[in-house]
Amino acid sequence: MKTKKKMKLKKGAYFLLLGIVVVIVGVILGINYYNDFKYKETMEYQLMEKGYSKEDTEIILNKLTEEQAKEVLDKDFDETIALFIKEKYYLHKNLDEYLRYYYEDDDEESELKEIVAIVNVHANLKWYEETYETDISLKEEMIVNKFYALDSDYTPENTKTISLDQAYGKEGENILIDYAYEKFIDLWNAAKEDGFHLMVNSSYRDYESQKEIYDYRKSTQGERKADETTAHPGHSEHQTGLVVDMTSTNAKSDEDFSESDAYKWLKENAYKFGFIERYPEGKTYLTGYSPESWHWRYVGEKAAKICHDENITYDEYYAFYIEK
Ligand code: DAL
Ligand code: ZN
Repeated sequence: MKTKKKMKLKKGAYFLLLGIVVVIVGVILGINYYNDFKYKETMEYQLMEKGYSKEDTEIILNKLTEEQAKEVLDKDFDETIALFIKEKYYLHKNLDEYLRYYYEDDDEESELKEIVAIVNVHANLKWYEETYETDISLKEEMIVNKFYALDSDYTPENTKTISLDQAYGKEGENILIDYAYEKFIDLWNAAKEDGFHLMVNSSYRDYESQKEIYDYRKSTQGERKADETTAHPGHSEHQTGLVVDMTSTNAKSDEDFSESDAYKWLKENAYKFGFIERYPEGKTYLTGYSPESWHWRYVGEKAAKICHDENITYDEYYAFYIEK
């Protein structure tokens, strides 16, 4: 009798144990299945399923918002997309245009970095075909270029006159907006202390004077050449009152100046006073202008330092840090 009871008990314990094991295994399998199911729903899984490598997937997920990553997922797999996203100045709103430019427009096979810059600054568009209004409320950070224009009646307020010790031309002819003027004076004095006597050739120009200059260039050199050196009226930074064209007393020509120590000094120091070289050598494909060693634009110290440290033009700065 006793052994029968013992046997029954043993059997009961055995089934209980088996039951527990089955439940545990079931729970583990269930959790695994659920985790697997959940993982398959993640962007990481779906991007990798689409063909993106683990590294590219991480870049897409780290650099983009969830919504932007979803947009990438909705497109056909293209590893160039991830390469574009890796670029420092990548702007998601421009992705389709980067790709279009890369596949359709780029005869010269530019680096992706260059395509990003070109599209960001609108240099993929025909000059003057599509233009926007300059946001003058940005003050020293306003942009004026082949795509952004000032009204014909825009004139700078609160101007100050550059003295004849610092500018060629007639008394009262060279003016700047007051806050740019103050910084110009600081820059001028610092240059002087280091042995360079800078002279302003041109500063503020109104719409009408720019029109005269442009029309003259166009009639003598043709439209394309004129456009490479001179802005259409409304599209000249000179109209902002934030620009000086400079040379030094001992430079006899613009060419002389571009090879001078005074120019080297400006390249190393002007940004500390908020001025930048607006049309540097090697950046014509972005600025649309041949290099102008003489044309210095006041953009404020913060923007000037970024342009200097990151070696970018003001067009690139504006596209990435302001317009976005
Ligand atoms: N030369 C510069 C680009 C201007 O005309 O404003
Ligand atoms: Zn100029």
